[in-house]
Amino acid sequence: MKSQYINELKSGQLVKEKFLLTKKILKEKKDGGFFTQIELSDRTGSIEGVAWDNVSDELKNISSGDFVFVTGTVTEYNEKPRIVVNSITRVSEEEIEAEDFLPVAEENIDDVVAEIIVLLNGITNPYLKDLIQHFLNDKEIIENFKRAPAAKKAHHAEIGGLAVHTRNVMKLGMKACEIFKFLNADLVVAGSFLHDIGKIYEYTYQKKIDHTKNGRMLGHIIIGYEMITEKISKIEKFPEELRLKLLHMVVSHHGELEYGSPILPLFPEALILHFLDNLDSKLEMMHEEIKKNKGTLADWSEYHPLLERVIYLGTEI
Ligand SMILES: [Fe+2]
Ligand SMILES: [Fe+2]
Repeated sequence: MKSQYINELKSGQLVKEKFLLTKKILKEKKDGGFFTQIELSDRTGSIEGVAWDNVSDELKNISSGDFVFVTGTVTEYNEKPRIVVNSITRVSEEEIEAEDFLPVAEENIDDVVAEIIVLLNGITNPYLKDLIQHFLNDKEIIENFKRAPAAKKAHHAEIGGLAVHTRNVMKLGMKACEIFKFLNADLVVAGSFLHDIGKIYEYTYQKKIDHTKNGRMLGHIIIGYEMITEKISKIEKFPEELRLKLLHMVVSHHGELEYGSPILPLFPEALILHFLDNLDSKLEMMHEEIKKNKGTLADWSEYHPLLERVIYLGTEI
C-alpha cells in the first residue's frame, strides 16, 4: 500500500511516493527555455506537478500512462496544491498494487448486478430472453462486466462503474416505460443492458484504467455490435426485425453523429435510450465535480470541457 495519497497531500509536505503519470506537457518558460508540466494520479484523485531543468533528462524516457516514483515538495500554486518535482523515475507495473491506483465504485457491485438481473428477468420476449441468457451464461463477459469502468475519465471511471451506469439507465428506462406506455419495455430493458457492453473490451482495468488497442481503434459501439451479433448467431430463427431494432439502439445511443454514433436514433426506444444514457452520464459528471471540490471555498468549478460550462458549487440549502 502507498503511504501518501493525493487527496491527503498538504502544502509544504515532502513527497516520496509512487504515482501514475497522467499528463506530461513541455511548456515554454516566460524568460525562455522549457519546463515540464505533469499530472500525477492515484485512486484518490490527481495533482499537478512541475518539473524544472534539473529533471528534464529523467523525464525523457517517461511517458503519460507510466507508473513513476516521485520525490518533491507540495507547494501552493494558483490556490491549488502542486508538486515541485526533485526526481522522477519509472516504476514497473509489477511494483504496483492495483488497489492503490484503481478507484472503486462505492456501491457493492454484486448487489448492483443482482438488481440488473431482476430487471432482465422481467423481459417476456422469448428471443430477447434467450439472448440475455447467452450473455449471463458467459462467465468471461460477466466477470469483466462486474469490474469494467464506464469511462477512462468522463463518468463512472472506476471499477464497477459500468455496472452502476448500466443499472441506472435500465431503472430510468423502466420509469420511462411507466410514463410513456407506448414504449416496448422488453426492448428498453435489453437495449439499456447491452448499450455499453462493448466497454468491457474497450478498456483495460488491471492496474490502471486505460484504452485497449481494440478500444482505441474500434470503440465500444462497434465492439458491442460484434458481441451482440455473435450471440444472436447462436439463436435459431432470431427475428430479423428484433435483431435490427436492438442493434440500432446500440449503435445510435450516442445520439449525434459527432458523438460517435453512425446514425441518429430512429424510433422511440432508441431515442429514450440515448436521452437516459446522456442523463445518467452528465448528471454523474456534475455530481463528481461537486464531490471533487467539496471542502474548498470556491463558488465555481473550473471549466468542465465535457459539460462545456463551469458548475456552481455554492453552499447547501
Ligand atoms: Fe456509450
Ligand atoms: Fe452509456
